[in-house]
Amino acid sequence: MSNISEYSELVQPTHINTAGTLFGGYMLAWLDLAAAKAATEFLEDTDAWGAVTRALDKVEFKEPVFLGDWVKCKSEIVKTGTTSMVVQVRAYAQSKDHGKRLACTADITFVAVVKDENGSLISFNHNISLNEEK
Ligand SMILES: CC(C)(COP(=O)(O)OP(=O)(O)OC[C@H]1O[C@@H](n2cnc3c(N)ncnc32)[C@H](O)[C@@H]1OP(=O)(O)O)[C@@H](O)C(=O)NCCC(=O)NCCS
Repeated sequence: MSNISEYSELVQPTHINTAGTLFGGYMLAWLDLAAAKAATEFLEDTDAWGAVTRALDKVEFKEPVFLGDWVKCKSEIVKTGTTSMVVQVRAYAQSKDHGKRLACTADITFVAVVKDENGSLISFNHNISLNEEK
């Protein structure tokens, strides 16, 4: 089990908005995927089926992101509840032309889930506190 995770994307022509920079909706999707990866890895040793996004908080677009930048997301589980986990995501944009900068940040809450008898996802008590994590 780990509370740190990494996820990367390359900004390609289809990601660009009319201002010539990365469309923020793609960045939101990448933050969510990066946090989902962290939450899934964190729950690896539990009976959870997976985790779903419950809330996106404190989303900040700090710097524009350009075509050809690598977006490298560093995620950390910073808080756990009974079924929930708060994942802090920091997205760094990097290229030779523009250097490396902290482009976007968010705190994303995930809820651990299992499938009930009908196949619906219901919340699951993951039973992990951060100080138990190895
Ligand atoms: C996940 C889900 C099954 C849980 O339902 P539930 O059992 O009724 O539980 P709640 O959603 O009320 O609360 C679950 C946890 O989220 C927390 N939570 C609820 N609202 C929150 C908010 N606005 N911000 C942060 N955390 C919140 C609760 O405190 C609880 O945490 P805890 O168990 O650690 O104390 C249900 O909320 C759901 O299906 N949501 C939609 C998920 C989704 O479709 N996501 C997008 C695609 S992945």
